[in-house]
Amino acid sequence: MNDPVENAKRLAAFKAVDNHVVDGVIGIGSGSTVVYAVERLAQKVKDEGLEVICVPSSFQAKQLIIQHGLKLGDLEMNHNLKVTIDGADESDHMLTLIKGGGGCLTQEKILASCAEEFVVIADYRKASTHLGEQWSKGIPIEVIPSAYRVVYQKIEKMLGGKSDLRMSGSSKAVGFLCEQHKSP
Ligand code: A5P
Repeated sequence: MNDPVENAKRLAAFKAVDNHVVDGVIGIGSGSTVVYAVERLAQKVKDEGLEVICVPSSFQAKQLIIQHGLKLGDLEMNHNLKVTIDGADESDHMLTLIKGGGGCLTQEKILASCAEEFVVIADYRKASTHLGEQWSKGIPIEVIPSAYRVVYQKIEKMLGGKSDLRMSGSSKAVGFLCEQHKSP
């Protein structure tokens, strides 16, 4: 692989798995970085006898787990997660994250909340002092489809700015991308 960013993502993902994953139930986030984490998990299962059940945060994560021959779990059967591994769209200096750019926000948050440890793998392009410096597409918010108009109106009334409904197609779920309110 010649792309330095992809190389860095892969190295970071391998390190995250090596340093944080132990036997047990593992939450699997979504995005291109998590692909490398799942690759490493599969290696460790094969080479070191690691025993994990993987709970996916999205259709993409589920496909990854299946493709790598890992044990697939769900939150009904496996809700005490040892660790959840995920990517992020941006992280500020306090490690506050923007997530959900890939459209899997709620599922990812549920998996993060169930885990003893939440590990985020993010390359240097995601680092900022204040959120919004790197990720310019707006803050992702996932909504129940029937409530989208109500939520849309409330966001604009309470916070200002502008929200755009994100339709299915390039994304995986219904939601908004909210432009950050800028002070006058
Ligand atoms: C998915 O909804 C997001 O929260 C992802 O974790 C995020 O988009 C990271 O994706 P990449 O690893 O592809 O940057």
